[in-house]
Amino acid sequence: QNTYLVGGQLKPWKGKTTEVYSTISSTEEYKPTLLGSIPYMGEPEANEALQAAANAFDKGKGLWPTMKVADRVACMEKFAKQMVTKRDEVVKLLMWEIGKNLPDSEKEFDRTVEYIYDTIEDYKQLDRDSANFKKRDGIYAHIRRGPLGIVLCLGPYNYPLNETFALLIPALMMGNTAIFKPAKHGVLLITPLLEAFRSSFPKGVVNIVFGRGREVAAPIMKSGRVDVLALIGNSKSAVALQDQHPYKNRLRLVLGLEAKNPAIVLPDADLDLAINECIAGTLSFNGQRCTALKLVYVHEDIVDEFNKRFAKRVDELKFGNPWDEGAKLTPLPEPDKPAYIQGLIDDAVGKGAKIINKKGGETTENYIFPAVLYPVTEAMRVYQEEQFGPVIPIVPFKKIDEPINDIADSNYGQQVSLFGADIRKLAPLIDTLVNLVCRVNLNSSCQRGPDMYPFTGRKDSAVGTLSVHDALRSFSIRTFVASKDN
Ligand code: G3H
Repeated sequence: QNTYLVGGQLKPWKGKTTEVYSTISSTEEYKPTLLGSIPYMGEPEANEALQAAANAFDKGKGLWPTMKVADRVACMEKFAKQMVTKRDEVVKLLMWEIGKNLPDSEKEFDRTVEYIYDTIEDYKQLDRDSANFKKRDGIYAHIRRGPLGIVLCLGPYNYPLNETFALLIPALMMGNTAIFKPAKHGVLLITPLLEAFRSSFPKGVVNIVFGRGREVAAPIMKSGRVDVLALIGNSKSAVALQDQHPYKNRLRLVLGLEAKNPAIVLPDADLDLAINECIAGTLSFNGQRCTALKLVYVHEDIVDEFNKRFAKRVDELKFGNPWDEGAKLTPLPEPDKPAYIQGLIDDAVGKGAKIINKKGGETTENYIFPAVLYPVTEAMRVYQEEQFGPVIPIVPFKKIDEPINDIADSNYGQQVSLFGADIRKLAPLIDTLVNLVCRVNLNSSCQRGPDMYPFTGRKDSAVGTLSVHDALRSFSIRTFVASKDN
């Protein structure tokens, strides 16, 4: 029986449903596996959820936005405790729904629980910090942080639990009320958690609906009643949703979007280290991470040696189902992804690049083996597009200004990985790079964590900052009560 959560009730769904398939076959002859179904909702249910969130906020008078810190913390702790009991179920669904391997699926779950507890701690600290009084020119100020109102929360398929919760949890912690619609892939794994949401938070504080963005999220935006659009995904969806809002200037945005993070490998780099990190950076979860390395610049003096060793290492990676021991490469959850990646390969090869690893481009029904492409130039689609999948473009360079200019001209600005031995010599380069992106990783691949550190991007890569500490600020506003010295 399908259910959804609105106004504190788990409601049975009697309408049309959408079947959810895994691209992983459970039979010898390949056939996508039917995992279950979700409600196919539309405008009436979207409005019902919106009304429930508005009622719970109740123009700032609601139980949740006015609740004492300790009580709100108790609700969040209750949720985290119940969530932990669902670990096996959620991890299993993560593997089936999005093809994430077992260690990474477990890590996604555990990291999310840790994120909740860290958020609770930081929130308590925030309350202590902001409860202080200030006095200037005879005016006392009692500074606080308050909620923004109603948050529409939409997460991505690559971290359907962790990144969605990285939006939802801080939004709730700060006293906002929310409507949350899970991503297309990684949607069933939310269902084991519905009861935990229902029983931990006051009614209407969290409302969970299912369906397609244009049928569920669009009407919510059109109403003009949403105060925050919190989305991790692509900028096309983010812009389309913002455009629906009749009072765009009032809308607060918290967005985690695309990136094209490059690695720069300098001539004096430790090649073993650089290759290890670039393998992990380009191919963890098959490159389906916003933080994945999506271009690898290698200095021309070392590029032949780098390519030879890198290509061999890629071919040694094991492909298998997510639960197979040692499987680093796993089925792609989007059925059309192999064809998209093949299109990038064909375009690059047509424009002069070669596939330099033996297994590059080999396909099965649900996978395309990573192709290492060299030399990649600006004219190729794989240089321009965020591939978000298993294909690795290698770009040779002579002068450091070449990658620097490319990064400066790019539409994105999330992170860079820099590989080189002489850190003192690198200092000016690091100073330049941090002015172009938001995190420079020295001799290591790009990544979001640890979640206490700021996570954001310049240009089209992000709006607002996500991390335990920063997200609490992104989902709140500083207010104060002033009184005169009389
Ligand atoms: O998709 C983007 C994620 O934020 C990447 O996170 O670096 O922890 O894999 P990660």
